[in-house]
Amino acid sequence: MRSSLNHPPLLRRLTIAGGLAAALAFGTVSAAVGGVQAQGASGASGASGAGVSADAPAATSASLTGYDREIVDQFDSANSVSHIRHLAVDIGPRLNGTPQEREGAEYIGGLLKSYGFEVTYQQWGPVSTKQVAKVTSPNADLPGGPNWQMYATASGKFTGDAGVEGHVVYAGTGQSAADFPADTAGKIVLMDYNSTASIRNTAVVNAVDRGASAVILAYPTGNSAPPSFTLTTAQPAIPVIGGGSAHYTWIRGLLGKGPLTLRIATNQYTNPMGTNVIGIRHAVGDPTGTTAPIVMVGAHIDSVLGAPGAHDDASGNGVSLEVARVLSQYPLDKELRIGGFGGEEGGLLGARAYVNTLTAAEKARFVGEWQMDMVGTPYEPARLWALTPNGQSNFVVQEAYDAAARAGFDGLRNCRLGQSDHQAFYDVGIPSSLFIWLDYRPPTPPAVCGPTGGSYVTEPEYHRPTDTMDNISPERLQITLDVVGGAVAHNALNAVTVSAISDADQPVAGAPVRADCGAGPRDLGKTGADGRLQAVLPHATCDFTTTAEGRTATERGVSIAGDRAVKMTVDFTKPTISLTTPADGAVFTLGTAATASYRCDDNLSGVATCTGTVPDGSPLDTSAVGFHEFTVKAADNAGNVADRKATYQVVYPWHAYFPETMDGKAGSAVPIKFSLGGDRGTDVIASGYPVSQPVTCDTGKATGPAEPTSGPGNSKLGYDDGQYNYVWKTDRGWSDSCRQFELKLDDGSSHLTTIRLK
Ligand code: BES
Ligand code: ZN
Repeated sequence: MRSSLNHPPLLRRLTIAGGLAAALAFGTVSAAVGGVQAQGASGASGASGAGVSADAPAATSASLTGYDREIVDQFDSANSVSHIRHLAVDIGPRLNGTPQEREGAEYIGGLLKSYGFEVTYQQWGPVSTKQVAKVTSPNADLPGGPNWQMYATASGKFTGDAGVEGHVVYAGTGQSAADFPADTAGKIVLMDYNSTASIRNTAVVNAVDRGASAVILAYPTGNSAPPSFTLTTAQPAIPVIGGGSAHYTWIRGLLGKGPLTLRIATNQYTNPMGTNVIGIRHAVGDPTGTTAPIVMVGAHIDSVLGAPGAHDDASGNGVSLEVARVLSQYPLDKELRIGGFGGEEGGLLGARAYVNTLTAAEKARFVGEWQMDMVGTPYEPARLWALTPNGQSNFVVQEAYDAAARAGFDGLRNCRLGQSDHQAFYDVGIPSSLFIWLDYRPPTPPAVCGPTGGSYVTEPEYHRPTDTMDNISPERLQITLDVVGGAVAHNALNAVTVSAISDADQPVAGAPVRADCGAGPRDLGKTGADGRLQAVLPHATCDFTTTAEGRTATERGVSIAGDRAVKMTVDFTKPTISLTTPADGAVFTLGTAATASYRCDDNLSGVATCTGTVPDGSPLDTSAVGFHEFTVKAADNAGNVADRKATYQVVYPWHAYFPETMDGKAGSAVPIKFSLGGDRGTDVIASGYPVSQPVTCDTGKATGPAEPTSGPGNSKLGYDDGQYNYVWKTDRGWSDSCRQFELKLDDGSSHLTTIRLK
């Protein structure tokens, strides 16, 4: 059987959609009857007053995240079906105290061992004597499965396992000679079972008289289980067995097609012992099982006489085993127990024997017991119920409701019923519930589930030889896996509260949280309005990451061992930058040595990058005149960014060979001489310069616009022998005024002189 990992996820989810449709249809039904818990909301119970309307709320959208999703996605009802087939078909009916009950236990135990569970077989009893007939065929394909079981009366012979084999003939009521075929001698004779002892006795006497090798008395009509009976005339020479109406119909059907050979082996098991199988998977930190919380799932192995018990209750074990398989892949801090109980049909015998072995300390460790009995019949009116002995919700029920909500299934309901192994756990104070697909009818309001409980109608195959693989719905098993398995998995993992808060101590809502617990990152979901996320995690060391508004918070190496809280602080604060060199506005002479000096700080998430125009401690670029921008960019580990800019100026080494003020004659040419520390070429004057403008002679205040100057005869800036020379042609019209001359260079510096003109 392939695991669901190999199934397309969409296909798996479509299965749930089918279940949802059924659940919605159900909403109408239960709304009509009322009196049933519609929600397992904490404290909700039938005792809380008037009947709670069971109106199915609108379909909730699936909200499976993180490990809840990962685990539920692996549940594959095909695996459950294969286990059910082994129990119900390959083994067949598993009556309490018979070898088949033991075989069932060993099948379950073997698988649990292979999943790493510690397996114990508990024998308890003795229980009442069982008289059974195993009916097989060496060549016919028997309807309902190859292992029929009938009742073996002690009035007949117990053949032991060897049994008798023969052709089958039908002899009606067996009351007259005409009923018997001529070749009855040596044959297995099928006759109509009659509830009147004398009619029965006559039929068997007549068959024996005609040399029958065995007699089957089976119900000719109705839907009956194999009858148990005695004969007034003992028949110690041949086995005499009772079959159900399905056996009757099947045999007559086969006879209608040709000869039929059956083998009948009758056994009396006198005061036999019943069997439980218990698988324990210890918590990581508690290998001896003394302190860890216990999460238990259970189902019963046994079936009633004659019934293959595919639904009741191979199905429960099929689900338990699939839950065990998937969970066995995770290191857990909870102790996981899988119970396969015998003797349930005999009165919860195995489960009661089991709970009796629990010490008070052990019982106190139980988180709960999720009992599954009949977890997926295709019988249309059946719905998934969480039934408790007192009709009230409890932790186990509530957790199943929560798991159902996560899976988008809103068809689960809670009411009152005992009648299965959950009762044994309830009786010793362990929270438990029976999970069952059943046409359960809650009480009519104002009666409520708590005090009274409802009634139910079982599927026709219930406790009958027809409880075969045809009475199994893979779709409903899948819903049970998702709901019950989902609840069990959720409780078997650690409950971890992740809270995201800002560095200003505010909750961070809607932040996706991821955890890498060694097997790659997993999305755990998003924080709620309170900044919290409830997640479940295996025993592991995990790195947590969350993001909000582009900021990332990380918590590395968080040890998850048991339930715990993980706090993540999201840094919304930018890193700080201090820039010493260059300071904003600093002026450097061309070619001088200067060292960049700056640093970035972030005391929340820490500095991730701190990058300047040149690295800190490196030479500042002073090789080109003019204004330069120096930038430092910083990012912290949360993703906050900051920058800081400074503008510095690189200037020529300037020397003026002209005074700040001078006298001159209007119309004359004034030489403006200066040096720039060498030959910088003649293209050193800023464009549009030099300029001159009229100013008052006393205050130097401008009295007119600045105008470009010109040299005489278009002369330009000259350079010779280390000196620059610019000749300024003054205007005749400027006589008797003052004029300011401004020489601006391409290094951004301006040099002034004021001339008083005559
Ligand atoms: N699987 C049934 C439980 C059940 C309960 C079936 C309600 C249908 C409706 C269980 O195996 C069973 O048959 N239980 C017995 C009671 C038990 C104490 C012997 C029953 O319900 O008769
Ligand atoms: Zn059952």
